[in-house]
Amino acid sequence: MMFKYNFTGDFAMDLASQIYIRKSCRNYLDEEIDMGPIHDFISTVKPLDENIDYYYKIFERDEVKLKTRWSAPYYLALFSKGGFLSGVNIGFVFQQVSLFMQSIGIGSCWVGLGSLKEKNPDFVILIAFGKSDNMTRDVSGFKRKNFSEICDADDERLIPAQLAPSAINSQPWYFKRSGDGFDVYMKKQNLIKRQFISKWNPIDVGIALAHLYVANENTFSFELKNNFDKLKGYVYIGSIRI
Ligand SMILES: Cc1cc2nc3c(=O)[nH]c(=O)nc-3n(C[C@H](O)[C@H](O)[C@H](O)COP(=O)(O)O)c2cc1C
Repeated sequence: MMFKYNFTGDFAMDLASQIYIRKSCRNYLDEEIDMGPIHDFISTVKPLDENIDYYYKIFERDEVKLKTRWSAPYYLALFSKGGFLSGVNIGFVFQQVSLFMQSIGIGSCWVGLGSLKEKNPDFVILIAFGKSDNMTRDVSGFKRKNFSEICDADDERLIPAQLAPSAINSQPWYFKRSGDGFDVYMKKQNLIKRQFISKWNPIDVGIALAHLYVANENTFSFELKNNFDKLKGYVYIGSIRI
């Protein structure tokens, strides 16, 4: 078993195994957290694209504005400069953080329905987090699209992407075999859905790519191709090898 982070606590596990037991955590204990390991982990995380600037801040419950019916003791606020891949990169980086937190007994949930009290044009999204005793489930408890709806390949290495979380469980990703890798696409939503979820869908695709990276840490690579196939109803995001 590979340890990405040498945490010495009881919950230390490799990140890839979290993919099959995680769930969005909406039940939190009011316990304080030592933020040191989280800051340390974030400082080592692999971005999708080294050229995209991002940063984060940690807030407490009372410091954020929420439209959710539940709340958590802490919130990671994520910031990035606009640009085509910035949302994808935020999803990629901070889903690794979410899996890491899960591995040390800290539950989390991406929160589209939240914002900051002070306006910041770089603000992208929040992640709720905190100690929890209700943050795992059996793989049979995942509600996901059929494998054939997310790819044209019979390749089990894509299962970690199938299990990825997404805004309103929209699962907007599609993987098309290309050479010895895959071209990655994001579904274009219809007019009604577009108003709600299209701003989060690039984050969702980044989250799915994070699962593929964590599960294939030594072989994963991402690039933008000029010569990709157009796919009706989808936007090209990039190409991967796993
Ligand atoms: C970008 C994004 C935004 C989300 N926003 C919310 C939210 O505002 N409120 C909430 O309760 N869950 C939110 N979620 C969690 C999803 O509803 C959840 O991931 C999805 O239903 C799949 O369930 P699972 O994460 O337990 O596997 C969000 C997830 C993502 C990836």
